[in-house]
Amino acid sequence: MKTIEELLNTQEGSMNTEETSTAHEEQPIIAEKKEIAQQIEEYSSNQVIELLKQSLNIHWQQTTSLTAQAIHLERWGYKKLAANIKADAEEEHEHSAINIERLEFFDVDYQPLTVNPPSWTRHDMVAMINYNLNSVKEAAKIERATITAAREVGDEMTANIMIPLLNGSENGIRLYEGYLKLIEQMGIDNFLTLQV
Ligand SMILES: [Fe+2]
Repeated sequence: MKTIEELLNTQEGSMNTEETSTAHEEQPIIAEKKEIAQQIEEYSSNQVIELLKQSLNIHWQQTTSLTAQAIHLERWGYKKLAANIKADAEEEHEHSAINIERLEFFDVDYQPLTVNPPSWTRHDMVAMINYNLNSVKEAAKIERATITAAREVGDEMTANIMIPLLNGSENGIRLYEGYLKLIEQMGIDNFLTLQV
């Protein structure tokens, strides 16, 4: 039978072992963190990561606003316009997934996301189109900056991934500028008659 002193020693010993093992457990976490930092440094830069987050954010915003606009336009009978806006919403949703996939590759968190409320008034089609135009212009600006920043650090893959996204934004600029031009030429009533 062990004495009380022996028992206490054993307990103390096991506590020490626990402490030691906790200290050992912490080490791989630190190493892991270092590895992530190195991975980003090796592959890309923090600026690229920040721009990818901004691109993701604007795509989430486009996905929510365009989805809502398509439903609104469909309800009010502008089926052709609704179909184009819905297709755009789906494309922007795909673009947001591409952004997330790249951020996942770098093992970085992409929260928090901020989605601004719509800035147009209900039924104001011109304001809605202007909002969409400004949004794709902003997205194109971020995408161009991401491509430049990625190429600066030799991250050719991120640059390549961003090219179809920039292409999509430029298509959006063409689409919404075209709508505004038509409205200017034929008036909003005639334009909307064509969208039924
Ligand atoms: Fe996009």
